[in-house]
Amino acid sequence: MADQHPHDHDIVTRPAIAMAGTGCDAEQYAALYRRSLDDSDGFWAEQAKRIDWITAPTRIANWSFDPVDIRWFEDGVLNICHNAVDRHVEAGRGDRTALIFEPDDPSGEVRKISYAQLQREVAIFANTLKKLGVAKGDRVTIYMPMVPEGAFAMLACARIGAIHSVIFGGFSPDAIAGRVEDCRSDWIVTADEGLRGSKRIPLKANVDTACDKVPVKGVLVYRHTGGDVAMQEGRDHWYHELSADVSRDCPCEPMQAEDPLFILYTSGSTGKPKGVLHTTGGYAVWTETTFRYVFDYREDEVFWCTADIGWVTGHSYIVYGPLLNGATALMFEGVPNYPDHDRFWQVVDKHKVNIFYTAPTAIRSLMREGKDYVTRHDLSTLRLLGSVGEPINPEAWRWYYETVGKAKIPVVDTWWQTETGGIMITTLPGAHDMKPGSAGRAFFGIAPQLVDGDGKVLADEATGGSAEGNLCITRSWPGQARTVYGDHDRFVQTYFSTYKGKYFTGDGCRRDDDGYYWITGRVDDVINVSGHRMGTAEVESALVLHPKVAEAAVVGYPHEIKGQGIYCYVTLNAGDEPSEGLEAELRQWVRKEIGPIATPDHIHFTPALPKTRSGKIMRRILRKIAENETGSLGDTSTLADPAIVETLIETRKNR
Ligand code: PRX
Repeated sequence: MADQHPHDHDIVTRPAIAMAGTGCDAEQYAALYRRSLDDSDGFWAEQAKRIDWITAPTRIANWSFDPVDIRWFEDGVLNICHNAVDRHVEAGRGDRTALIFEPDDPSGEVRKISYAQLQREVAIFANTLKKLGVAKGDRVTIYMPMVPEGAFAMLACARIGAIHSVIFGGFSPDAIAGRVEDCRSDWIVTADEGLRGSKRIPLKANVDTACDKVPVKGVLVYRHTGGDVAMQEGRDHWYHELSADVSRDCPCEPMQAEDPLFILYTSGSTGKPKGVLHTTGGYAVWTETTFRYVFDYREDEVFWCTADIGWVTGHSYIVYGPLLNGATALMFEGVPNYPDHDRFWQVVDKHKVNIFYTAPTAIRSLMREGKDYVTRHDLSTLRLLGSVGEPINPEAWRWYYETVGKAKIPVVDTWWQTETGGIMITTLPGAHDMKPGSAGRAFFGIAPQLVDGDGKVLADEATGGSAEGNLCITRSWPGQARTVYGDHDRFVQTYFSTYKGKYFTGDGCRRDDDGYYWITGRVDDVINVSGHRMGTAEVESALVLHPKVAEAAVVGYPHEIKGQGIYCYVTLNAGDEPSEGLEAELRQWVRKEIGPIATPDHIHFTPALPKTRSGKIMRRILRKIAENETGSLGDTSTLADPAIVETLIETRKNR
């Protein structure tokens, strides 16, 4: 067999679990997966029955990847907020807890919000948005801390048919302004301040700075910390004031399945983040179904996804997936290492968490602090562990499985993307053995394919077998993004032009003989820093805005904790000299332009960048130098000035 890999046979037998939840066993998986491909319409029509439709869909799939036009359940009418909230209340489950809020400060007030309360809160929020002037189809920017009101705001938008665009609270005013402008959003929902690890994040002040650049009609401000903020007359409104006299009833707007639900900005290989657009019906079915099968949810269990609602993981597995299933989701405002490195485990015990879903970067950083932080806690309520956001190295996987899970409970390593809406490749806890470092098998309806640089098919589910190549998906699935907001050409160019007729993920991947997929990381100019996706071009654009910077090239390099670190090559304008002071200034500069998550790890001043004679920067060489793999630079004969490579090696930063 081709491409055998030493890890392929590194199997961890699945711990026996009683099939009492919503998951499936190996036989059911095989049958359901087969049917999901052979009788896709029949399969998805059946899954869609778990959604309450105002008008049930009769057309199931209607899509083409060339030309690109993707529709699911297109004649169906529904409201996703009704499905996530109201229908549980109507079914007599209003007393069940929908959200548990654990604040940043461990001695702060825990909030438990039942489905009945959630219905009331969301209706009031929705009426407040209407009072502000928000109407169906309007884009509402949400820049909130991790508090329940962030989820209320999202669901309130969905309730009235407004399109939410959530921006992670760690982004800078410039990043907010760019996103508000791109989707022409007239409204922003924010809070006075956020809290993370006892530090205050000036959310409202950031919005003010953004609005100086890109004015909006209204800003709704939730009072969270009580910190001082400036309120602009006519534009800014306190949520508690504006909502005081609105009605507690707000009907759910009937939405076509293909009506937009939300925009979420994500990074690609070019400078400007893309507004990935998800629509209503397909996303509802996809997040409901993936949550159900992957997490094998049981009545009354507590599910905790540690992501922020500003990322897709928070959208799909804090808000929509769990609530569509009537589950109890924990929302955590803080960080894993405040007040100490055992906060996660303390919270697991405090709230009796059963399913815990986090990112490899968090696992690696906690692993470094030693076992004691974990073993001093009981953790006996845990039944399932999950990982998402970046490849998990087998060592971190084993630590997670053995130290946190006591080698008794399954780990699901879930591969997916902002563009996929929900989980695509994973093991299922009751169905599959696990292989540390492999995401696992294709989820229902997913047809992965590995191709080489020329598009030649190396392996897929039909051919079977092992191979390594670029990961494409050959058919649509309900949760797939439909377009880039306002720029369908860019959507087509980015995802469907590299390999015509296929969705290209941007990831490299290996398939082994058992049908397990091993994601090897991005093959484009996207880097993944602590699970945060970033375009190297974004960091470059930020750097060259500095008056002393002539040119910049940014690459990722392996980083023990963060997965990848940010390595910047910078050339200065004539007359400007490198200095430690300037290095610190540039770091600060990038933080200010994009946000703290984009802070460069290394700034390497260089008199020139290695370029081909036609002027193209040779990133391959820059990557090797940043990775400290200078023995294997490959062919450098096309360089205009080969001597520059020697200089770069001598002065490299990451030793
Ligand atoms: O490279 C893959 C990596 O994260 C990228 C998607 O990032 P984003 O859109 O921010 O969504 C993250 C949360 C779903 C992918 O192209 N990635 C995500 N999950 C995994 C992963 N890489 C390996 N294993 C995973 N489980």
